[in-house]
Amino acid sequence: MTLLSEPLRLRNGSVLPNRIAKAAMEELLAAPGQLPGDALRTLYRRLAAGGAGLLVTGHVMIDRRAVAQPGDVVLEHDTPLEPFRHWAAAGQSAGGRIWMQINHPGRVIPKDLAKTTWAPSAVPIDLGGLSGMYPTPRAMTAQDIDDTVERFAVTARRARQAGFDGVEIHAAHGYLLSQFLSPLVNRRDDRWGGSLHNRARLLLDVVGAVRERVGTGFAVGVKLNSADFQRGGFDTDDARDVIKMLADVGADLVELSGGSIESLATAGSPADGRTLAREAYFLVLAKQLLATSPLPLLLTGGIRRRAVAQQVLDSGVAMAGMATALAIDPTLPRQWLAGREAQATAPRTLLRNKALAAAALQAVTSRQLARLGQGKPSGTSYSPAVALLVERLVRARRRRDYLTWV
Ligand SMILES: Cc1cc2nc3c(=O)[nH]c(=O)nc-3n(C[C@H](O)[C@H](O)[C@H](O)COP(=O)(O)O)c2cc1C
Repeated sequence: MTLLSEPLRLRNGSVLPNRIAKAAMEELLAAPGQLPGDALRTLYRRLAAGGAGLLVTGHVMIDRRAVAQPGDVVLEHDTPLEPFRHWAAAGQSAGGRIWMQINHPGRVIPKDLAKTTWAPSAVPIDLGGLSGMYPTPRAMTAQDIDDTVERFAVTARRARQAGFDGVEIHAAHGYLLSQFLSPLVNRRDDRWGGSLHNRARLLLDVVGAVRERVGTGFAVGVKLNSADFQRGGFDTDDARDVIKMLADVGADLVELSGGSIESLATAGSPADGRTLAREAYFLVLAKQLLATSPLPLLLTGGIRRRAVAQQVLDSGVAMAGMATALAIDPTLPRQWLAGREAQATAPRTLLRNKALAAAALQAVTSRQLARLGQGKPSGTSYSPAVALLVERLVRARRRRDYLTWV
């Protein structure tokens, strides 16, 4: 039996001090210049003190023209590194490791942030009545694709220079790398489309280029969907094969998640209507992938209780990851490691529209992260609808700042 307190040694030689990870949460807290500032430092000092062996940052953008939200951090070839050094140090302040999640959103960039967006093919996002929020993307050229590989590698190398212990390449949730993996979004008939091997080519080239640029002794993780939960989309058989390919190009660990903006599996409502168990809801799929996975797996989604985290390890998964629960109570890992049964209660909403409800619940979590970043208690009594309204107001100001900067 693997205990939550047991260290995990990765292929590159680095060691994670325990089996609990804080999963990526887009913090929406960038300081002017899309840099990490006081709020992110305070937040990560508190998360570090909470005791998770691994903190994965919210997604950091590799291209200033392509940000998912105006509060996102950007790290490019000429970005000043000092603010990132402070961020890494805050994450390491209690002896744990910090990985920077790096991402390109592809077509998931709202219309009010960019006129042009990029994707494998010119396939717009289908969000029903809300589809108009996102422009129809432009199909990427070979030059765009090469440029993207290079940008991921540059951002990863600079993360290492700033003192991060690793990067996690975001290939889940319907962002660019996941768009390439999906037969629904990737309709290309060149070397980046068609067979699974071709659809995975961009991801594999990114991982290979990152590994080459960061060298050894630095972790390279990948966040991958165990399934997109869309009929005809990337499925669990695809995930099984891609995990093997990732092992061959130098990845250390795969974090399993699921869903996309069109199929909100992480909010418990995948588009194909399959019922998911409420807690650790990707565990059934993870079990299907474990037997053949050459890499350790980290499972995230719906974990809020110690017994569930332990059940995840008992099934053979190497690490248990949490996002929402740690925004509610960042001290959970420390308590669990000390044998206490503390748990987090997730907020609920009566909003009927699934996309709106998911956005409102996410807004509560963002609010909690912002409060932690101000040194306050996270606060557990927000109305999701009010949190969404506040987020929209803050976003309007951040949007003006971002557009001026970019
Ligand atoms: C506010 C918020 C922001 C998120 N941002 C990211 C992100 O930047 N990158 C990512 O891979 N997942 C992101 N996620 C998804 C989480 O990492 C996680 O996969 C999901 O919330 C399910 O885990 P949980 O039930 O523990 O929250 C975010 C989730 C929330 C609530």
